Amino acid sequence: AGSLDCVTFKCHVFSIFTHPPVLTERSFVLQRGTTMTHQYPALTAEQKKELQEIAQRIVAPGKGILAADESTGSMGKRLNPIGVENTEENRRRYRQLLFTADQRIDSCIGGVIFFHETLYQKTDDGTPFAKVIKDRGIVVGIKVDKGVVPLAGTNGETTTQGLDGLSERCAQYKKDGADFAKWRSVLKISDTEPSELAIFENANVLARYASICQQNGIVPIVEPEILPDGDHDLKRCQYVTEKVLAAVYKALSDHHVYLEGTLLKPNMVTAGHSCPTKYNSEEIAMATVTALRRTVPPAVTGVTFLSGGQSEEEASVNLNAINNCSLAKPWALTFSYGRALQASALNAWKGELSNEKAATEEFIKRAEANGLAALGKYESSGTAGAAGKSLYVANHAY
Ligand SMILES: *[C@@H]1O[C@H](CO)[C@@H](O)[C@H](O)[C@H]1NC(C)=O
Repeated sequence: AGSLDCVTFKCHVFSIFTHPPVLTERSFVLQRGTTMTHQYPALTAEQKKELQEIAQRIVAPGKGILAADESTGSMGKRLNPIGVENTEENRRRYRQLLFTADQRIDSCIGGVIFFHETLYQKTDDGTPFAKVIKDRGIVVGIKVDKGVVPLAGTNGETTTQGLDGLSERCAQYKKDGADFAKWRSVLKISDTEPSELAIFENANVLARYASICQQNGIVPIVEPEILPDGDHDLKRCQYVTEKVLAAVYKALSDHHVYLEGTLLKPNMVTAGHSCPTKYNSEEIAMATVTALRRTVPPAVTGVTFLSGGQSEEEASVNLNAINNCSLAKPWALTFSYGRALQASALNAWKGELSNEKAATEEFIKRAEANGLAALGKYESSGTAGAAGKSLYVANHAY
């Protein structure tokens, strides 16, 4: 039906947000004369060049990211089990042993994500951590979101806050040595989730964040994490991952974000933690790369996977399988691991000065394993030991 300036369509719509999908009837009104928005220049050629070069340095072949941006509360959860008090000084001593690891990490760590406090801490001899990292040729990053908050009217879904004042904070962080940033959105899988609202809200807030970062010369890591909680199978996770990533890239396009100057930090496609069927790393790799190929434009410089509670060894083996998978992959595929780079190091440290060397060795071991996995050259010894211990925490929040 229609008139001269509008047309109404009645369509059957296949709702993708319920499981199983449901067919419903909906009407759409298309107004004539609504045109595509014109893109006014968002970034200069120089700004684009700078952003792309930063992104490329972070994910250069064999390199990935150390996510050391645990909030003060999260650090408590890491330090408590090893009997270390969660004080500013203990957090500083722990981060120092990671950041001052010897030159072996320079070939496998391209970026380090800091928490606000860490960006302004110093080594024992008074050198700012940011300078220590930069001087080794590693790019400094900063977590800029302010955590997840409930989306009212949903069954416990969330959005992420932190847009207020973000431009000013980015400008300051850039002056203080940061060249990339991270913002984490969280989605969950159930028979009816993620909801349409959660998908679109989180895609939009990630795009606003990315746009603001780029205006300040900061490469945004876009992180729409789909939690591994639930009993869903691999197929269901792949399906949801595709829908979420498609929404994210639509929003980034709508907000005129320069994709070459971004990195994506997605979950790997895995079955839910309570799923009775277990899948091997080749199946996980095939599902993950297939989902990415269907949704992530080749212009995106790199994909830096989160480890999401996988054991250290699992995270390395899966990343290796992803890089060894036979499908064509137009982006760098590497790691942005927190727990999967640090669990053994924390256990070896236990807050003792005399354990620092051993703890640093454990960190280097994982960094090297993941550097090889990013090249598809990691050969698992199969005897993972402590590195095989699951790091899963239900409903992982900050
Ligand atoms: C890569 O995959 C091939 C089979 O497709 C396998 O033979 C080879 O061992 C794998 N390499 C690594 C390092 O995992």
